[in-house]
Amino acid sequence: MTCFPFSFSRKGRPKTQGSFDVDDDVSGIHNVRLYTYKELRAATADFSQTNKIGEGGFGSVYKGRLKDGKIAAIKVLSAESRQGVKEFLTEINVISDIEHENLVKLYGCCVEENHRILVYNYLENNSLAQTLIGGSQSNIYFNWRTRTKICIGIARGLAFLHEEVRPHIIHRDIKASNILLDKDLTPKISDFGLAKLIPPNMTHVSTRVAGTIGYLAPEYAIKGQLTRKADIYSFGVLLMEIVSGRCNTNTRLPIEEQYLLERMWELYEQRVLVGLVDPAMNGDFDAEEACKFLKIGLLCTQDAPKLRPSMSTVVKMLTSEVDVDDIKITKPGLITDFMDLKVRGAQKSKLDMKDKPDMKNKSYTISSGSDNLDSSTLSSATTTAATLTFTAMYDQSS
Ligand SMILES: Nc1ncnc2c1ncn2[C@@H]1O[C@H](COP(=O)(O)OP(=O)(O)O)[C@@H](O)[C@H]1O
Ligand SMILES: [Mg+2]
Repeated sequence: MTCFPFSFSRKGRPKTQGSFDVDDDVSGIHNVRLYTYKELRAATADFSQTNKIGEGGFGSVYKGRLKDGKIAAIKVLSAESRQGVKEFLTEINVISDIEHENLVKLYGCCVEENHRILVYNYLENNSLAQTLIGGSQSNIYFNWRTRTKICIGIARGLAFLHEEVRPHIIHRDIKASNILLDKDLTPKISDFGLAKLIPPNMTHVSTRVAGTIGYLAPEYAIKGQLTRKADIYSFGVLLMEIVSGRCNTNTRLPIEEQYLLERMWELYEQRVLVGLVDPAMNGDFDAEEACKFLKIGLLCTQDAPKLRPSMSTVVKMLTSEVDVDDIKITKPGLITDFMDLKVRGAQKSKLDMKDKPDMKNKSYTISSGSDNLDSSTLSSATTTAATLTFTAMYDQSS
């Protein structure tokens, strides 16, 4: 492996294959390993289709074997994500410094010419999206103990990003496919810190928010208000998915069951939350604990951000250091359709609800802040990955 720990002197320039120019003033950058494009090409058999393991909002991901024998997940950022070398390395430097048992480790990157490539530790057991959520074909069995370990691990990883890393990192894309599992099924959050890799001059351009609508906190989707509470909302949705074994939105189910959060609220009101625990466990789980986890999920997805607990409190709730029994829970906030949101938010035209009777009562009702909609314009929902324009990039709650 060709590694170049960063310790740029004023004139220092790493010499790699191909040319790349690093400003003299990239001081303070250290701890990042640089890979040559040639090496990554060799590791992935020239980025061959057979080595491709996925494609997401930032580009394609390949599995590769590095020179030292390590297996890596090699993420080739798409053209939109390319920013200047200095800005790129500054962000990478922040991510590389972060180490936690529940966060995917970044090995290093490649910044030759136009290439912007991230090299991560490869996780053997794929993501929660491919293994647990939505009746996948995976042969991994997730018993209740494993699920509790996964939920607590994710909560710890996120609490670390939110409360211990300085400056705090808001993930912005907590979802099942960003939770990877190692060989012991320890969960690792991936893609943290990537949001800032979008060049500053692109913040007004449509920024692809990967994932389905179901993970987006209403205030983030509507007003572009980005705080840690938006991540906590997404975590709440994920928590309910892990306990129930189903995806937050499933349009193949009968209408009244399509949205997990709605269903959850209904059963919560009827005091039969246990009915939503994954039937795949055949009743072999701690019912009290499972209902507690679902309640925590409801708390994290409360409509008003201030009602959602911080991630460190969530960890304590999950581990029973903090009691949730006496906390009042109100109806969770939920957005079910972007077109609906746009129309309602703009309050200009009336959507013909006759064709979509299920949306009438379920959609999020826009608050007075909806006038801001233009600064967080929602594009037509042509794909499940919504395209939004956000200007807010920083945590306003800290
Ligand atoms: N470090 C990794 N180890 C193993 N697989 C990974 C890793 N990173 C990403 N992947 C796989 O590549 C897929 C695409 O990742 P990504 O580009 O982040 O898109 P998304 O998170 O939207 O699925 C993931 O769903 C996952 O299956
Ligand atoms: Mg990802």
